[in-house]
Amino acid sequence: MRQLGGLDPKTESCFTAPLPGDEGVRALTAKFDFLPAGDHLVRRRVPDLSAVQLCHEFLTTHLNPGGFYLDATCGNGHDTAFLCRLAGPEGRVLGLDIQPQAVEATNARLAAAGLDGIGRAIQLDHARLGEVAAPGTADCVLFNFGWLPGADHQVHSTAAGSLPALQAALDALKPRGVLAAVLYSGQVIGDSEKQAALAFFRSLPLTRYTVLVCEFANWASTAPLPCFVVKK
Ligand SMILES: C[S@@+](CC[C@H](N)C(=O)[O-])C[C@H]1O[C@@H](n2cnc3c(N)ncnc32)[C@H](O)[C@@H]1O
Repeated sequence: MRQLGGLDPKTESCFTAPLPGDEGVRALTAKFDFLPAGDHLVRRRVPDLSAVQLCHEFLTTHLNPGGFYLDATCGNGHDTAFLCRLAGPEGRVLGLDIQPQAVEATNARLAAAGLDGIGRAIQLDHARLGEVAAPGTADCVLFNFGWLPGADHQVHSTAAGSLPALQAALDALKPRGVLAAVLYSGQVIGDSEKQAALAFFRSLPLTRYTVLVCEFANWASTAPLPCFVVKK
């Protein structure tokens, strides 16, 4: 199963096995979620929809090619590359990160994918987003908060920087522009950034913004929380 990716939660899989006669083997296969189906056992896994995937799907539905998109936490550049593909050759994408290695990784990913004509990353605290995006000019600002995967987890976004950044992002958006944010909580980063961002989103006036908070209701309370704000 391991060799065939059966233990990878991101990969869809279906394994079959003969029905065991022995009680001990039956208990073992049940532990690995094999269920009887006719004259054999089957173990099916469908990957969970991730918070980031949901964000990508929402943005794909709501954005048109040719826009100006900001990735306010570019990290290893996966989201920036996604935004570049969405923006297309007529679009423009700017990635921001406070860590130089994230900026390097993002620019390398864009170059390797031939997307460097559309997007680039610079080292900038997203609280200063207003310095690179004039009010009312952006079609989308994406935040995937937290830490840089593969780097020191102690360097992560915090409420002190994230709230001014969220306000700067709303100021930068055009009417009909979309802010997408994945909020995190947990042992390392605590809960304060998530709660502060939620309070910020909930305080936005309905006359100017549509706000969605998309909770994974049957996961742990620390499940990533995708949020969307559409500027009216
Ligand atoms: C979860 S990672 C982002 C993943 C990334 N979007 C990707 O596709 O690989 C979060 C990133 O936010 C960055 N970050 C944290 N605080 C920041 C800040 N104040 N301004 C800009 N980036 C920040 C971190 O350095 C880290 O690279």
